[in-house]
Amino acid sequence: MRAITIREPGGPENLEWTEVPDPVPAAGEVLLDVAATAVNRADLLQRQGNYPPPPGASEILGLECSGTIAELGEGVEGWQVGDEVCALLAGGGYAEKVAVPAVQLLPLPSEVELISAAGLPEVACTVWSNVVQLAGLSEGDVLLVHGGAGGIGTHAIQVGKALGATVAVTAGSAERLDRCRQLGADITINYREQDFVEELKKHTAGADVILDNMGAKYLGRNVDALADGGHLVVIGMQGGVKGELNIGKLLRKRGTVSATALRSRPVEQKGAIVADVRERLWPLVAEGTVQPVIDQVLPLADAAEAHRALEEGGVFGKVLLTAK
Ligand SMILES: NC(=O)c1ccc[n+]([C@@H]2O[C@H](COP(=O)([O-])OP(=O)(O)OC[C@H]3O[C@@H](n4cnc5c(N)ncnc54)[C@H](OP(=O)(O)O)[C@@H]3O)[C@@H](O)[C@H]2O)c1
Repeated sequence: MRAITIREPGGPENLEWTEVPDPVPAAGEVLLDVAATAVNRADLLQRQGNYPPPPGASEILGLECSGTIAELGEGVEGWQVGDEVCALLAGGGYAEKVAVPAVQLLPLPSEVELISAAGLPEVACTVWSNVVQLAGLSEGDVLLVHGGAGGIGTHAIQVGKALGATVAVTAGSAERLDRCRQLGADITINYREQDFVEELKKHTAGADVILDNMGAKYLGRNVDALADGGHLVVIGMQGGVKGELNIGKLLRKRGTVSATALRSRPVEQKGAIVADVRERLWPLVAEGTVQPVIDQVLPLADAAEAHRALEEGGVFGKVLLTAK
């Protein structure tokens, strides 16, 4: 098969469209003919040599894809050759074929086309496992989403609204905030011009749940932005890895700070997340309440261009790469 490989760690110019051996599905896995994959921020780090794949995972980039089941590994039940699916991957998506544990498959939702579905598994599993399973977002809660215009953010806005929360977002321009509002965001904050704690507190008593992509840079202000009993979940470190936590402020609020990574979780945990996403989120996707937000679709051979687009900024939602 053909796949994107990394000639050497560095810039997007190091991504090559080359011939590599076909993957072979192990017991419990299926082989997919990939229709499309999506670019994630982690791919940029892996390309630079700063985010090695977890042990046992493919060296090929790509944390999610859509496609058609081409072969069933030993012991796989509940799926058939020819089924159209999308999948959460530990790697290997930037290729014409990928082997994936069957527990990480999701059926194609009825309202979503096969190519568009490639942009769903990573955002769906990340947002659902953190905002809903871990932080317990409920109807009437306030959800603050940093980076509301990104892949994760555009999905989190829709999930928050579907669950009956008030959703506040940060983004880097008025135009991007406007698009977040069109997706359902109630409170929009320009992080370049406004203080998000001040803005949030003008409208609410603070956030019950914060989904944070910035890490260290926002740690102090995120604790300030929490409501009593609120939960800050850090999933990204775009603003650094080491911050100072004011425990006094946190304990007076009875607050919680968590940090999680999806990719390095064991297959059983990913399977449990995927099962819950299928049961509780997928119906919202199937009825169109939660939709994929696609900025652009490029051929997989042009992965370098897609990486440049994400690095330059200005992408709203996801960038997809088609394998055919
Ligand atoms: N832990 C996990 O399991 C996991 C899983 C998936 C993703 N992630 C992480 O989650 C984050 C978002 O992922 P993604 O796929 O949505 O990436 P993305 O599409 O590239 O979005 C990144 C966002 O960061 C925003 N941003 C930049 N500077 C900011 C600031 N100072 N304050 C607030 N927002 C700022 C950008 O906003 P503007 O463009 O408006 O400037 C952009 O929307 C990334 O850090 C990614 O690594 C973690």
